Amino acid sequence: MSAHGTPIPMTSRPCGPLNGEAHVPGDKSISHRSLILGAMSVGETIVTGLLEGQDVLDTAKAMQAFGADITRDEDGTWHVYGVGVGGFAEPDQVIDCGNSGTGVRLIMGCMATSDMAVTFTGDASLNKRPMARVTDPLALFGAQSVGRSGGRLPMTVVGAADPVPVRYVVPVPSAQVKSAVLLAGLNAPGQTVVIEKEATRDHTERMLAGFGAEISVVDTPEGREITLTGQPELSAQTIVVPRDPSSAAFPVCAALIVPGSDVLVPNIGLNPTRAGLFETLRDMGADLTYENLREEGGEPVADLRARYSTNMRGIEVPPARAASMIDEYPVLSVVAAHATGRTVMRGVKELRVKECDRIDAMAKGLRACGVTVDEGPDWWEVEGMGPGAMPGGATVEVFLDHRIAMSFLVAGMAAKTAITVEDGGPIATSFPIFEGLMADLGADLVKA
Ligand code: S3P
Repeated sequence: MSAHGTPIPMTSRPCGPLNGEAHVPGDKSISHRSLILGAMSVGETIVTGLLEGQDVLDTAKAMQAFGADITRDEDGTWHVYGVGVGGFAEPDQVIDCGNSGTGVRLIMGCMATSDMAVTFTGDASLNKRPMARVTDPLALFGAQSVGRSGGRLPMTVVGAADPVPVRYVVPVPSAQVKSAVLLAGLNAPGQTVVIEKEATRDHTERMLAGFGAEISVVDTPEGREITLTGQPELSAQTIVVPRDPSSAAFPVCAALIVPGSDVLVPNIGLNPTRAGLFETLRDMGADLTYENLREEGGEPVADLRARYSTNMRGIEVPPARAASMIDEYPVLSVVAAHATGRTVMRGVKELRVKECDRIDAMAKGLRACGVTVDEGPDWWEVEGMGPGAMPGGATVEVFLDHRIAMSFLVAGMAAKTAITVEDGGPIATSFPIFEGLMADLGADLVKA
């Protein structure tokens, strides 16, 4: 469901083996950044493989509102004609980022050091999410903001007319916060320094370097210290967006739990800041192999092969791995229910402030499907029932969260009885081809 749409219930029935190749869409994080950095550079950025999910389309629309010219060819190639760092025009409309926390937080960052006032809003999910984590550091540059109580959208950000560079230690493990500060630093004079205690996805740093910014990363006793020199001229790039490991997670996990399955998911980036789920599944004993392991654009890439696995055991997921698999805990919990023994996930309080409270949403839904789940403020545990033993047979709420919807549809494929999600609409935000792709592999999904 979009902010204005009606719920689209979907049912996933137990199915036969999943077989074939799953070509998942482009990476959501890199797609947002391609459009934003393209808009902030000079010249024509050409993007292929862009994720055409609603989150990214909302960011494209926002960049147009700031003055970038963005077009799409029929073959899916995107062209972004940027306005350069400091070249944004003040939008004459409210910026609606829909369901996307990445979109709104990164865009707040990139306008916060320009002399303009911009009002942001989103859907019912986004308007509940905390924005102070971004507006607090943006205030250090000189930006001001007024939103609803608790720092929620709708919110107006007044960018700093005379920004100063900042030094900021990110208090939560969040690539969105880190990226907002770096993007704000682009239009501030001098050096902006961001320190993160735990490494989070590093696409912004890598892409800023690719667009020609002066940026360095060093490990210090305080953490990973990133130094960006402000007011560069970014030059337009040609970008091939890699496929999204967070989307690959769904066909991979489905294949592991549906009897007889053998699925190949080609061309998945294994950037260590993103690949935590796959390591965890292998630690659990999953039959998941990296074929044709190679390097592309300086990053490890492989074709993932996932086969039905009857020997998976519950493990304690290393908390240090949380940032590298933060979006994958919901679907991991579904696999954990099919493992033998308990899977323990600690150090994951960020899950409570995603598109919904993901621990709460998964715990409620899994319990309705007959699985035992315990939870605390920053941890949860799933009691494995063994392969194929999850009863299912429930209708679960998804709280406007694409990953909750897809996780329970995967669960339905291997449960004893069908599982219905009360709204499959949010899937379009990140994985618009999910239904067709899973059906082609052999899933039995129907709009209820
Ligand atoms: C993202 C960062 C993560 C992740 C989100 C995408 C990004 O959020 O959950 O889906 O592209 O920077 P946090 O930075 O809040 O952890």
